[in-house]
Amino acid sequence: MPTADPIQSARDLLDYIDASPSPWHAVATSRQRLLARGYTELEETQRWSLTSGGRYFVTRGDSSLIAFVLGQQPLAESGLRMIGAHTDSPGLRVKPKAPHTCDGVMRLGVEVYGGPILATFADRDLGLAGRVHLRDGTVRLLHIDKPLLRLPNLAIHMNREVNESGLKFNKQTELPLLLGIAEEGKSAEQVFATALGVDGNDILSWELAVCDTQKGSLWGPQEEFIASSRLDNLASCHAALSALLAVDQSQATAVCAFFDHEEVGSESAVGAGGSFVADVVARIAAATGLDEEDRRRALAKSFFVSADMAHGWHPNFPAAYEPQHRVMVNGGPVIKHNANQRYSTGADTAARFIGLCEKAGVPWQQYAHRTDLGCGSTIGPIVAARLGMPSVDVGNPMWAMHSLRESAGALDHGRMIAVMGEALAS
Ligand code: CO
Repeated sequence: MPTADPIQSARDLLDYIDASPSPWHAVATSRQRLLARGYTELEETQRWSLTSGGRYFVTRGDSSLIAFVLGQQPLAESGLRMIGAHTDSPGLRVKPKAPHTCDGVMRLGVEVYGGPILATFADRDLGLAGRVHLRDGTVRLLHIDKPLLRLPNLAIHMNREVNESGLKFNKQTELPLLLGIAEEGKSAEQVFATALGVDGNDILSWELAVCDTQKGSLWGPQEEFIASSRLDNLASCHAALSALLAVDQSQATAVCAFFDHEEVGSESAVGAGGSFVADVVARIAAATGLDEEDRRRALAKSFFVSADMAHGWHPNFPAAYEPQHRVMVNGGPVIKHNANQRYSTGADTAARFIGLCEKAGVPWQQYAHRTDLGCGSTIGPIVAARLGMPSVDVGNPMWAMHSLRESAGALDHGRMIAVMGEALAS
């Protein structure tokens, strides 16, 4: 298995997240790691010819990626061992006509993407990251990794109730980010153009996420915790990718699928609700000579692990949790249950995952949300329904999900890599 030293795995995770400030960067970072390990990039627009034992990946829309190792056994006999996670994180996205001047101050208009904790964007050193399309047809990744923008708090003298009522922002009027004092001839577009080394007129369109410039860190007396942006869900992407890269030779076909747009419902061409995963599975089947019936047999023999982060027990807020289903940060991977199929776990797939944890020598925990609180969902039920595969929802426990600065257990990460290694090999 990958690195035995848990702190080493956690450090590698933080490097991966620091290099992946947007879904497009997460795919680029993953692509680099795959290419470095001898994976071949496939194009959706080309015909595929695949060989047994071969290692491949394909991307869609620059923000979703599926990587796989073709197994030694025929697909119809062994099926797929698949892990899924998502590349996107909730936050703020720059509007198309974002830069504007308001009463002498240059601001950047933003949209809320998914469900971030907005207050955590206040008083942070913010940068930007995403993709920019240029007039010559090229796409450039942009990462302005220095404090460029800010959302200053309103002073307590003008917001006397902030500690009692919480920090609230009107999403239209109070969220635009401050960029500078307006000056003749100075524009925000120019900031992007300068960062890219292109002429401002050559920029046709962009998708840019607001990102924190603070790097990920280990914290705690023994550095047993991690803090970073985007742990949800790049921690799961990194764990799955690390497990896949450690696959030497595989009996079954091992697949990792990382999707964009989970935080906004997955219904898009690149999302888990789109055709990407089904298309790739169909093409693997076609390229390995399976007929329709054998393709169905392969799916019936498959197993899907949907990996997304879980809510670790926070001792300051006991009332927020189901008392019998507290999961501890650094207590091991969590199996998530929801009878209403917000999570895809069933008794059969939970048992199978517990077996994998035992095989990997990893502790495991079981989570259910409070019955009187709405439960989040994942790509698990979506992919399970689309492919008709048995599926389990798991994830490592974390604090402050959807904060700009989330935290989790450094020890849990290596455990998740280990159990994912078992899931891909089993
Ligand atoms: Co998530």
